[in-house]
Amino acid sequence: MSRKITVIPGDGIGPDIVKSALAILEKAGCEFEYEFVDAGLTALEKTGELLPQATLDAIANNGVTLKGPLTTPVGEGFTSINVSLRKRFGLYANLRPVKSFKGTQARYDNIDIITVRENTEGMYSGLGQKVSEDGSEAEAMSKITRAGAERIVRFAYDLARREGRKKVTAVHKANILKSTSGLFLKVAREIAEEYPDIESAEMIVDAACMRLVMNPEDFDVLVTTNLFGDILSDLCAGLVGGLGMAPGANIGKDCAIFEAVHGSAPDIAGKNLANPSSVILAAIQMLEYLEMPEPAERITRALADVIESGDRTTRDLGGSHGTTDFTDAVIERL
Ligand code: NAI
Ligand code: MG
Repeated sequence: MSRKITVIPGDGIGPDIVKSALAILEKAGCEFEYEFVDAGLTALEKTGELLPQATLDAIANNGVTLKGPLTTPVGEGFTSINVSLRKRFGLYANLRPVKSFKGTQARYDNIDIITVRENTEGMYSGLGQKVSEDGSEAEAMSKITRAGAERIVRFAYDLARREGRKKVTAVHKANILKSTSGLFLKVAREIAEEYPDIESAEMIVDAACMRLVMNPEDFDVLVTTNLFGDILSDLCAGLVGGLGMAPGANIGKDCAIFEAVHGSAPDIAGKNLANPSSVILAAIQMLEYLEMPEPAERITRALADVIESGDRTTRDLGGSHGTTDFTDAVIERL
């Protein structure tokens, strides 16, 4: 029986770039059965809810989800759908790989970095959010647990071993955030001892930003807390040509959601201008998760070849073609 996968086409450019990724998966011979469900603005319009129960059920039942970007309406008391999904399904690890593709207008062509971001704690835990009545003061709580830190740091080292990577750098701010970042760093040092075969490093987050821009080749796996991981992974995406080239996986104990890192790009939605690479790369991450390395490698090669040749690339990659032409170019190479 073929594997069943939940697909959320999403909002804005979502449906077009997800369609592109599914066509490429099909051409690569992946026989999945898809269950299409809605979330975000599309769901709100159809059902009155951002995250309908049927969507939650599909995500839980199928275990693996491919998701387009979702629009969270601003200023109407809606919490971010992505944050809700991560919490609800315990998706504690956010993996954001960036790899150089020749032919982009990126500054570097030798980058292969993966950020392993803790996805449920820290500044984004949503705890203790308060604004005083007169609006003059605001506060929020950051919470790090030993269990949460251990789990994410182990995840990073296990990934490094599995993928034959050489080095794990723990990024922190323990010199100032002594309690929270301090606990994270302490745990990272302890776990590092369990992995003598992998080089361990640690770096303060601001210094890491500078080093990433100046010497990105010094980095391999980064492991860090929620807020730092959010920022660092976008910085890394910038090193390889921007958000159009950046996928992300949200992984929990028995559930995983694969997505583009960027948003629904309302400015270019419906214009056939979006670069589908981020969702294609997310689909590749999904294949790796499902232990299907063969189609993952084939799609990676086809995508790299299209980008390098500059044959039919999208505007953000320096080309003048649309989402559909770009997709066709990848499909022809498969
Ligand atoms: P955005 O990432 O949608 O767009 C930022 C800029 O990048 C825009 O100029 C856009 O045209 C461009 N861009 C994004 N993806 C592209 C692609 N694949 N190809 C070519 N250009 C691309 O960020 P923005 O505008 O701040 O957010 C729009 C909406 O997306 C908001 O409602 C926000 O809440 C949501 N969002 C959703 C995310 C998710 O579902 N994972 C993540 C970030 C934002
Ligand atoms: Mg972000």
